[in-house]
Formats: sequence, structure tokens, C-alpha cells
Amino acid sequence: MSTLITGGAGYIGAHVLRLLQERGDRVVVVDDLSSGDESRASGATVVRIDLASDGARGALSRVMAEHGVDRIVHFAARKQVGESVAHPEVYYRDNIASLAAVLGASADVGVHRFVFSSSAAVYGTPASSPVSEDAATNPINPYGETKLAGEWLVRGAAAAHGLDAVSLRYFNVAGAGWDDLGDPSPLNLVTIAIDRIRRGLPPIILGDDYDTVDGTGVRDYIHVLDLAEAHLAALDGLGTNPGRARVYNVGTGRGASVREVLDRLELAAGSGLTPLVEPRRAGDPAEVVANPALIEAELGWRASRGLDEMVDSAWRASEHRAAAAR
Ligand SMILES: NC(=O)c1ccc[n+]([C@@H]2O[C@H](COP(=O)([O-])OP(=O)(O)OC[C@H]3O[C@@H](n4cnc5c(N)ncnc54)[C@H](O)[C@@H]3O)[C@@H](O)[C@H]2O)c1
Repeated sequence: MSTLITGGAGYIGAHVLRLLQERGDRVVVVDDLSSGDESRASGATVVRIDLASDGARGALSRVMAEHGVDRIVHFAARKQVGESVAHPEVYYRDNIASLAAVLGASADVGVHRFVFSSSAAVYGTPASSPVSEDAATNPINPYGETKLAGEWLVRGAAAAHGLDAVSLRYFNVAGAGWDDLGDPSPLNLVTIAIDRIRRGLPPIILGDDYDTVDGTGVRDYIHVLDLAEAHLAALDGLGTNPGRARVYNVGTGRGASVREVLDRLELAAGSGLTPLVEPRRAGDPAEVVANPALIEAELGWRASRGLDEMVDSAWRASEHRAAAAR
């Protein structure tokens, strides 16, 4: 078995890479290093290809043939919601073209096992929570649209080329499995709050008047190492059903409020900074929590790590990054 990890120098891809390396699997990484960092992929061959560029399919086919690849995990994508609203054409081009190149190359080389990074963003603003996979998909920004269109493309390629494919809809990913693999981009509650605390600024709560346990928004936070383990469960369960394209939520099934997250972060950071409360952001639902029953029933995976471990590890990783930068 040899696994191709696209985007393996990124935050989540590097965790899957390290788990596969630890159990002795053969791996090759393809990444353009646009947001990734090659040092995260230490010990692996990293081939630099922009998967959205002309000629990517052919270049990737050659890499796959050379490394005897027989399974693929496709992480490589742009993931900034705000940027996707400002530049939808860039998101459609990059996220869809890169997926098309990877699926095309897998057909060229005859690879039939495929895992795709999707997102809870495909649900948009769910009508109710917990959210199951059969809930309506109604993305509210171009990023989420590219993930939903990506799932459709995976489904089409599975039918056309006999892939056995899984799309994983990640909920709110946080934490670090190793101190050197933290998420460096301030794009979600945990990383934005860490970034502010490190700059001596108080974290921000957007709305404390929701109908929730403490008035702040509730989300399903999943430890990146649990998420990485879900990829291994998905990979190991592939290969017996050509033409099948399954979709699974990856979350814990438990919600945590913004205030709970920030309280734990304050404990880890010891900053003494009291969060600022600002008005709600338009369109933010009170609560979005995954129903993860399907992936547990079909792949035997469930999250085992809690909020404290997630937040503490994210803070430790930020300390590690700050020390390395000094
Ligand atoms: N982090 C999250 O909370 C989250 C939630 C839901 C879904 N996802 C999805 O998971 C995947 C990985 O996310 P991440 O948080 O690790 O992001 P990341 O930015 O850390 O990693 C993405 C990696 O892909 C590479 N890449 C991007 N465009 C490329 C291209 N055209 N060609 C080759 N390489 C390219 C980047 O250099 C980077 O190493 C993405 O598809 C993202 O949309 C992430």
C-alpha cells in the first residue's frame, strides 16, 4: 500500500501523514506549499505541484506511477471563507480544478481508493441540530459551494471510474497532535483567540444572547488527531465497493460554547484577558453539532478526545511556534 497525500504539508494533512508514517505505511506528499510548510512533512517525499495548474493531471500521474500509489487522500485546497466571498472565481478554479486533476490522474493510473476533505460548510445554516448527513445541503459561501460541488465530482468519478470513495465533512477542527503541527492560520475561534492573546488583545465573543447554555454560540469542536484517525478508518475501509461514494460527518456529537472554549483557553494561557462581547454576526446559527452516528456504525470510528485536550494542545503548539520564531 502506498498513499498519496495532497496537501500533506498543511495542518490536517500533516497529522494524517504522521499517523501513517508511525504505522510504517509508504507515503508520498504532493503540495504546492502555498499555505503548507515542508517541515511538517519531514521524513516523506514531498513533490511540489500546483494541482490547479495546467498539466497537473499528467505530472501527478507520473508521481503516482513512480511511487506505486494505490490510495489517495485529497486535502489540497484553499479554505478561507472570507477570501472565497471576495474571489469566488479563484476558489472555484483552484478547489475544483485541483480535485478534477487528482481524480483524472487516479483514473489514468488505476487508483480506486479515494478520501476527500469536505466540510460541514456544505450544510450552510442547518435548520436543526444535531445535523445528520441527510440534512439539506445549502452552502452560504463559495468555499462551502466548492466542497459540495467537490462531493458531486467525487460521486461522478466513483461511478465513471470505479472508485470506492469517502467524503468526510469536518466540523470545527482544533488542537494539535504534536506540538510542531499546530494550526498557524487564525481562521476559527480557537486560532483567532490564540492569535489575539499572543498579541496582548482580549478574545472576542460574537453575541452572548443566543438561546444556548450560556448565551454564546455552540459548535462541535473535533480534535485534529481524532479527525486524522477518522481518515485512517476511512482509508482502511476502502476497496471493496467500486462505484460507491459515501459521505460522513466527522464531529464529536457534543457541543461546546464560545465561552467554554475561551474559559479553557484562558486557563491554558493564563493571560488574564477578559473576552470582549460584540454583537452577533448576521447569519450565525445558535448551535451546530454533528450527528456522528453513521461513521461510527459503518467505519467504527468515534472521537475520543475532549475540549480541554484540544484547547491545551492548540495553546502548546502556539508556544512551540513562538519559541521557534525567536
Ligand atoms: N481546518 C479546518 O477547520 C477545515 C474544516 C473543514 C474542511 N477543511 C478542509 O481540509 C483540507 C485541509 O485543510 P487544512 O486546515 O489542513 O488547510 P491547510 O491550508 O493547512 O492545508 C492545505 C494544504 O494544501 C496545499 N495546497 C493548497 N492549494 C494547493 C494546490 N493548488 N496544489 C497543491 N497543494 C495545494 C497547501 O500548501 C497546504 O499545505 C482542506 O481541503 C480544507 O478545505 C478544513
